[in-house]
Amino acid sequence: MTGTIGYDCGPGGVVTLTLDDPGQAANTMSRAYAASMTAAVDRLEAERDEITGVIVTSAKRTFFAGGDLPEMIKATPADAPALTALLTTIKADLRRLEQLGRPVVAAINGSALGGGLEIALACHHRIALDAPGSRIGFPEVTLGLLPGAGGVTRTVRMLGLADALTNILLTGRQLRPAAARDAGLVDEVVDTAEEMLAGARAWIAAHPGAAQPWDRPGYRIPGAGRELAAQLPAYPANLRKQLKGRLPAPEAILAAAVEGTQVDLDTALTVETRYLVSLLTGQIAKNMIGAFFFDLKAVNDGASRPDVEVAPVTRVAVLGAGMMGAGIAYACARAGLQVVLKDVTAEAAERGRAHAEKLLGREVGKGRLDPDGAAAVLRRITPTADVGALAGCDAVIEAVFEDPALKHAVFAEVEPVLAPGALLASNTSTLPITGLATGVSRPADFIGMHFFSPVDRMPLLEIVVGARTGDAALARAFDLGRRIGKTPIVVNDGRGFFTSRVIGRFLDEAISMLAEGVPAPSIEQAALQAGYPTGPLALADEVSLTLIRRIRRQFEAAGDGDFPVLPAHAVVDRMLDEHDRPGRAAGRGFYDYGGGSRGRLWPGLAALATAPGRAIPLIDLQERMMFAESLDALRCRDEGVLRSAADGDIGSLLGIGFPAWTGGVLRYVQQYAGGPAGFAARATELAKTYGDRFTPPPASAGR
Ligand code: NAI
Repeated sequence: MTGTIGYDCGPGGVVTLTLDDPGQAANTMSRAYAASMTAAVDRLEAERDEITGVIVTSAKRTFFAGGDLPEMIKATPADAPALTALLTTIKADLRRLEQLGRPVVAAINGSALGGGLEIALACHHRIALDAPGSRIGFPEVTLGLLPGAGGVTRTVRMLGLADALTNILLTGRQLRPAAARDAGLVDEVVDTAEEMLAGARAWIAAHPGAAQPWDRPGYRIPGAGRELAAQLPAYPANLRKQLKGRLPAPEAILAAAVEGTQVDLDTALTVETRYLVSLLTGQIAKNMIGAFFFDLKAVNDGASRPDVEVAPVTRVAVLGAGMMGAGIAYACARAGLQVVLKDVTAEAAERGRAHAEKLLGREVGKGRLDPDGAAAVLRRITPTADVGALAGCDAVIEAVFEDPALKHAVFAEVEPVLAPGALLASNTSTLPITGLATGVSRPADFIGMHFFSPVDRMPLLEIVVGARTGDAALARAFDLGRRIGKTPIVVNDGRGFFTSRVIGRFLDEAISMLAEGVPAPSIEQAALQAGYPTGPLALADEVSLTLIRRIRRQFEAAGDGDFPVLPAHAVVDRMLDEHDRPGRAAGRGFYDYGGGSRGRLWPGLAALATAPGRAIPLIDLQERMMFAESLDALRCRDEGVLRSAADGDIGSLLGIGFPAWTGGVLRYVQQYAGGPAGFAARATELAKTYGDRFTPPPASAGR
């Protein structure tokens, strides 16, 4: 053993290096790893004459987990020299390994993400075990980082610039072993550990002179030369499309990849280090690691879930086979649950099942599911108009129209038929759960399970706890959400809960700008440049102006919570009443949608201005949108709607598209220039210019 790496010289002179960081659940690229790898490679070089080959594998369930994130998140600009030195050592050792003059095979026994894949790419041959849940890829970009232990450099040299960037490095995709083989990242996929090790020995025996392609004479990067020169000008434009806003990591990946193609491999590795160190010592990677790794893990591990035993749900009734109900039925069936999908007519229920069939067809087309598997999923969905078919269901998820009286009626109708103690959940997007629960006989079992559209693609589930919801129902809803692959945040009750309420502020603020005479393209561009995935006017069309108005009226009628009268309301009324432009589904809203295209902004929008257009600085446009949301998130925290900052940050990132570089709506307040006090000062300034709604809440803006 050399520190975290086992060294075992076996029969025939094959050395097995076993990655096995003692006391850690997974191997990471820590300082201990770096020291051990140096010692292991020193010994390989010293004993080279007795060695015929090397197998690199792991004693953990995963092959190697990647970077040491708890360490990375602490890096400050003052740490840059030390980080550079560490990365230089790690890379030099991998370089020595691939130039040992002996065949080196990676026996990838489990997930190899980030640093794990970088170690594997420094081997001459890669054999991956098809272990359950195993994933291979470079998720760095999703954490604001780049694979800087040779990942960018070697992937480009293996796959060529175009494939490396667009299939692997800029997507952050985590591939199953077979998909990683198809993408060219691994060479073989096997079913058992024995096959993997036997395969590694056989490859070593057959390739005594193994060397990396880039260390052979005459090597050229695939697609390099004239082809590459022709591709390069298109990259910045393509990149702008992919990176949506102020994300420095994709830019750094592009730069490291392109610059790396112009120089030799060792220089390229140095260039890559420089870019990684600048990302590591900046704030954005810290925000993104904090949210997309630590918060996400805490939320998924159930930080907000009570610790009670749950009886897992097996048979789910979904009420309403519309857009949401059909999506929920699909997600449940795909996760192996039996689903009864009920609507008012058999035809409507069948349409919901047909939607699931279409989604399954797409999965088969993409090779994610075989036709038999798809047929089995579809068989689990029983469409019906008969309430009797719900007999024995141990959970119900209601997704009928957003009307409290109708929701009360459908629960009253189905409750007697369900299994005793069944979970009673509503997918309402705004109605308070406590009020809806008055319609059922067991309010302790009643809970909100707010899914997002399209359900098959949106990862978030907002679980809403009413005043009388019991712990057992919460734990069960959480368990159900996780089983169907969603990330569940848990919030307390309130009109619009957390996500619908906060996104409403965003839409109102942006639509108000139209009344102020801000040109519509400027509003959309300001949001996209701030890092929102969609412009607010396009989003409003998706949601539909009819629904936006209905929700506003419910807020006004209920009189709960402050709901400032904004120019946005008059704009929405005029769009609906004067211009009959309700949104995307109708083909006309803020945009005109001809022939299924993305739409063009409706030229009539300029006439909606009620104030003379004044020049508003871009930063004010952007911060009005971001502050509208973050101030409301602070109110949600102060009012107890939010149970934790992690729930708020993850909810804002995965549910409502708050700019990813911030690491979430509450982290944005924390990280604003000058901290929470700086945020409050800027809010006060916005309040003076644009209205009282920006006045910061009396409680400090800190967490
Ligand atoms: P939808 O209009 O597409 O579907 C509603 C379905 O309910 C229709 O198929 C209708 O026939 C059916 N229905 C009506 N009365 C029924 C009854 N008595 N029994 C059984 N089925 C009945 O509506 P959508 O968009 O699917 O919304 C459903 C619920 O989900 C609403 O509460 C909405 O607020 C909520 N929601 C909607 C989201 C969205 O993006 N559209 C997002 C999250 C929640």
